[in-house]
Amino acid sequence: MTHNEPLNHTGRKGIAMAEKTITIRDNRSGREVELPIIEGTDGPPVVDVTGVYRDFGIFTLDPGYRSTASCRSRITFIDGEKGILRYRGYPIEQLAEKSSFLEVCYLLMYGELPTASAFEEFSEIITRHTMIHEQLRQSYTGYRRDAHPMAIMVGVVGALSAFYHDSLDVHDPRHREISAHRLISKIPTIAAASYKYSIGQPFVYPQNRLGYAENFLNMLLSVPCEEREIPPSISRAMDKIFILHADHEQNASTSTVRLAGSSLANPFAAVSAGIGALWGPAHGGANEAVLKMLAEIGDVDRIGTYIDKAKDPDDPFRLMGFGHRVYKNYDPRAMILRQAAHEVLTELGRENDPLLKVAMKLESIALEDDYFVKKKLYPNVDFYSGIILSAIGIPTNMFTVIFAVSRTVGWISQWMEMISEPGHVIGRPRQLYEGAAVRDYVAISQR
Ligand code: SDX
Repeated sequence: MTHNEPLNHTGRKGIAMAEKTITIRDNRSGREVELPIIEGTDGPPVVDVTGVYRDFGIFTLDPGYRSTASCRSRITFIDGEKGILRYRGYPIEQLAEKSSFLEVCYLLMYGELPTASAFEEFSEIITRHTMIHEQLRQSYTGYRRDAHPMAIMVGVVGALSAFYHDSLDVHDPRHREISAHRLISKIPTIAAASYKYSIGQPFVYPQNRLGYAENFLNMLLSVPCEEREIPPSISRAMDKIFILHADHEQNASTSTVRLAGSSLANPFAAVSAGIGALWGPAHGGANEAVLKMLAEIGDVDRIGTYIDKAKDPDDPFRLMGFGHRVYKNYDPRAMILRQAAHEVLTELGRENDPLLKVAMKLESIALEDDYFVKKKLYPNVDFYSGIILSAIGIPTNMFTVIFAVSRTVGWISQWMEMISEPGHVIGRPRQLYEGAAVRDYVAISQR
């Protein structure tokens, strides 16, 4: 299996020679320093500020990282203005139509589409590691039955390091690969079990004869006394949802995994941290929030009220499933899911699903509303995914769990890229301190 060549790293020893530069001048001292501009394969170039603190004694400030590239990467490229998303150079539209999630996992991990024999080997490895340790399965009983499945996911994934000590040397490429395989294999089993536990049903074991998406749906929807027939079109829709959510460059949860992993923590702990970050309704928790919002709106006649709330600067309500830090055009994943939603609901004879009707009307109103047009707020990946998942019969509180199942391959691929980078250092941002100036302690009797 091929691996990524390490990225060249500017590192602390100074900056790779660059033809293009930006000159910054410190008006306090008149000093000028040239900073190199580094261009990538695609997208905006960067100005390398690695040496700014060393040369000027100042930090750069960028809360929310709107103008900050946190790393060099070769995995995923997105262009927010053009609505472009590519995994290892392949457009998401082509992968969603022609590939499979397991093949996309190989592509994200190893950087190339697999040959037939490499894919057969990879599929065999993933298929044969889908079971989890029986004691890990028993650990679920430590949670309340009504715990949110994401709470269980955070705990159980973090606990994987308590069971797989034999592959935790993050400096060993083979250990990294084994941990990646284990995560990709076991995350659907862990996810389905978190749901089964929350409804008091027995766990359904993985079946090696089933494909990745079908196996997940079977573990989620079957019961030991009756197999649930999963229509191929539904498995395909699930597989497509997995493909579309697999990676997305340096989003909040991926950045969390990178930062946690930069301390050389084990990959299970780093991915557990990523699951926690994904849970937020501003990020992966939005798909669950979209369904709740559509259900709360309930009828197309009530859409105006919610649009007004979303536009009210004094109202914290946001139109869930709309807007994106990067996409200032349609999220290409939303376009694909919009089509898939229609196909699945038609297949299930639910083309008149009230939620879909509210969603379609909400989308058309918002896209014509001046507020959303001016702020370039378009439907994002979370706007339609929940409608499909709900139609398949998946409960709302499992939507973000499904996002985590898919994004695990993105997280672990980005972690592998970071850890294997020569000269990699721990991530340790600084701050602009605006607190109290130095002062002496005052005894309580004097306060
Ligand atoms: C995901 O980063 C990724 O790649 C994430 C993700 C991935 O694959 O990993 O794509 C997955 O997280 C998708 C996003 C899911 N979240 C939601 O759908 C929640 C609703 N969306 C918003 O919370 C918001 O749009 C964010 C969090 C997604 C983006 O936040 P930003 O970057 O702070 O938004 P912005 O700066 O582009 O907003 C511009 C303006 C602001 O108003 P002003 O301060 O200019 O007056 O638009 C407003 C925002 O208040 N705005 C919204 C809005 N989203 C932004 N107003 C109403 N409804 C919204 N949904």
